[in-house]
Amino acid sequence: MTANELRKKYLDFFESKGHTIIPSASLVPRETDGSTLFTTAGMHPLVPYLLGEQHPGGNRVANVQKCVRTGDIDDVGDNRHLTFFEMMGNWSFGDYFKKEAIVWSFEFLTDPKWLGLDKNRLYVTVFKGENVIPRDEEAIATWQKVFADAGMEVEVAGEDEMIKSNVRIIPLGTDDNFWIAGATGPCGGDTEMFYDMRPEEGKLEGKFGDLVDSFRIMEVWNNVFMEFNKTAEGKYEKLAKPNVDTGMGVERTLTVLDGEYTVFETELFKPLFEKIAEISGSGYQDSDETKKAFRIIADHVRASVFMIADGVTPLNTGAGYVLRRLIRRAVRYGKLLGIEKDFTVSLAEIVIQNFGDFYPELKKQREIIFAELKKEEEKFRKTLENGLKQFNKLSSTAISGKDAFDLYQTYGFPLELTIEIAKEKGVIVDEKEAGDEMKKHQDLSRTASAGMFKGGLADSGEETARLHTAAHLLLASLRQILGDHVFQKGSNITPERLRLDFSHPEKVVPEQLILIENLVNRAIEAKLDVLNEEMTLEQAKKLNAMGVFESKYGEKVTVYSIINDAGEVVSREICGGPHAKNTGELGHFKIQKEEASSSGVRRIKAVLT
Ligand code: ALA
Repeated sequence: MTANELRKKYLDFFESKGHTIIPSASLVPRETDGSTLFTTAGMHPLVPYLLGEQHPGGNRVANVQKCVRTGDIDDVGDNRHLTFFEMMGNWSFGDYFKKEAIVWSFEFLTDPKWLGLDKNRLYVTVFKGENVIPRDEEAIATWQKVFADAGMEVEVAGEDEMIKSNVRIIPLGTDDNFWIAGATGPCGGDTEMFYDMRPEEGKLEGKFGDLVDSFRIMEVWNNVFMEFNKTAEGKYEKLAKPNVDTGMGVERTLTVLDGEYTVFETELFKPLFEKIAEISGSGYQDSDETKKAFRIIADHVRASVFMIADGVTPLNTGAGYVLRRLIRRAVRYGKLLGIEKDFTVSLAEIVIQNFGDFYPELKKQREIIFAELKKEEEKFRKTLENGLKQFNKLSSTAISGKDAFDLYQTYGFPLELTIEIAKEKGVIVDEKEAGDEMKKHQDLSRTASAGMFKGGLADSGEETARLHTAAHLLLASLRQILGDHVFQKGSNITPERLRLDFSHPEKVVPEQLILIENLVNRAIEAKLDVLNEEMTLEQAKKLNAMGVFESKYGEKVTVYSIINDAGEVVSREICGGPHAKNTGELGHFKIQKEEASSSGVRRIKAVLT
C-alpha cells in the first residue's frame, strides 16, 4: 500500500462513520505560549475543542496532521524514531466514546475492506489505574468483546505484564497509558494497539516492555479517552463531556502493511535513500554507521522541508534554531558519508515530489524551500571546515571546556557538535566547564531555545508559570511608565526567560527600564495573590482585563488578577495560564535586553533570578 492510499483509506473510513475531514494544521502552532515550538500531535491544534469549544466541522472530525517532535532527536537512526511524522487521527468532541472508538479501530485495522491486518498479530494495552483514576474496565470489556466477536479467546495480563497463552490485553500504568500534551490540558487514560513484527520467530511470549524494546511488537495506534483537564495546580478536573483523541502513525502503519521491519524500508524513505546512495557512493546497508547516517539525513531533510514550507527559517532562536540544527546535522552526516558538495536541495526535490500532492504547500513554497536549504548548507559547510581544522589541532584525548567554547566563539562551531564528534573519536570534553563558559557569554535567548530543543516539549511547569506571572506584571508596569498606548503584541516564554513584544514607537531608555524593573519587583516583594476567575468575555471586558487574542477565546475566559493591598488592580489579563499562586514566588525580576522587534513594536527579554 502506498502512503497516499493509506491516508485515503483512513479518511474514507472515518467519513463513513460520520466524521468531517479537516486539513492538517500548520507545523507551527498559531499562537505559541512558549510551551511548544511545533505541533506535536494531531490533538494539539484541537485543544480548544477538546476543552468544550464548538468545532465548525461538528462533533466528529478526522485528519492527517503534520507533526514534529524533537525530544527524541538522539534516537533518530534507530528503526522507528523520526522528528517529522504524520499522524492520522479521529476525534469525538463529547460525542462517541470508548466503545465506538475501539470497535472502529479494530474494524479499520483488520477488515480486509480496509487495512486487512492479521488480528492474530494484534496486542493492546489499557490503563491499569493509578493516582485516584481507576482501572479502565470499560476499555478492557470492550476489547474482550471485540476479540470474542472475532472468534478469539483472549485474556488480560496480570501485574507481571507478561504475555503468555491467550493474553492480548495488557493493563499498564500512567507512564505508558495515560496521555497528556505537556504539563496541563485535556488528558486521560488510553489504549494502544501493537502489531507483532516478526511472527516467524514463533509464538509471542514475554514481558510486554521487553517485547517493545526488542522491536518484536510496535505501536501503531493510540486511542486516548480524554476525561479530565489537568490544571496548573495539578488537579484533574472532570471534563463536562469526555472526548476521544486518536493518533495513528502513517510511517509505522505503512511499515506493518508492507511487511517491513522498519519505517525506513517504506516508500516514504526508499527514494531518499537511493538518492543519498547515488550522491555519496555509499550503500545504506554497508554498515551500522552508514545506515544511521542515511536515516538521519533523510529524516532531517524531510522535517526541514516541511518546516520551511510552514514559514520557519534557520535562526539562532526558537523554531528557527531547531530547523538550523536539523539542516546542519544532515549536512554533517552527509560529510561522514563523504558527500562534499551541496545535496540537501536534491533530496528536498524528492520530498516535494512524494508529498506535494497531499501537502500542496510544499509545491507552493518550492523555491523558498530550496533557497533556505542552499543558504544554510553553504554557510554551515564553511563553518564546518574551519571548525574541524581547529578541532584536529586540539588534544586527541581531552578537550578543555575553554577550548570547546573557543571553537564556538571564534569559529562558530556548535558545542553540541564538538561533543558529538569528540564522542565518536573517543575524546573527552569538559562539558561542564564548556557549559559554564557558554552561559557566561551567550545570548540568553539562544541558550533558552537550545534547552527547548533538548526537551522538545518545554516543561510548562513551575518556571514557566512564574515567568507567565512576571510577564503580566511587566506589561502592567510598561503601561504605567510608558503610557496606555502600550499593548502586548506577542509573547514567548521558555522555562529560562520571558519575551514580551509590545507597541511603543521608540526605544525604551535605560532610565525607564530601571523604573519598570522596580515596579515589577515592588509587586513581587508585596507578595500579592494571583487570583483567577472564569467569566464571559463580556464581563472580562467590563473589568478592563487586557487580552491579546480576543477572537481566540470562546464564551468563557479565565481572568488573572493581581490586586495590591490598597485594593488597586496591579494587573488584570485574560490568559490561559499557568501562573504562580503568589507574586512572592517570583524571586527577583531582571530585564536582560530591550530591542526593536518590528516597526512600532519593541521587545523585552527578562529573567527571574
Ligand atoms: N494524542 C495521542 C498521541 O499523540 C493520540 O499519541
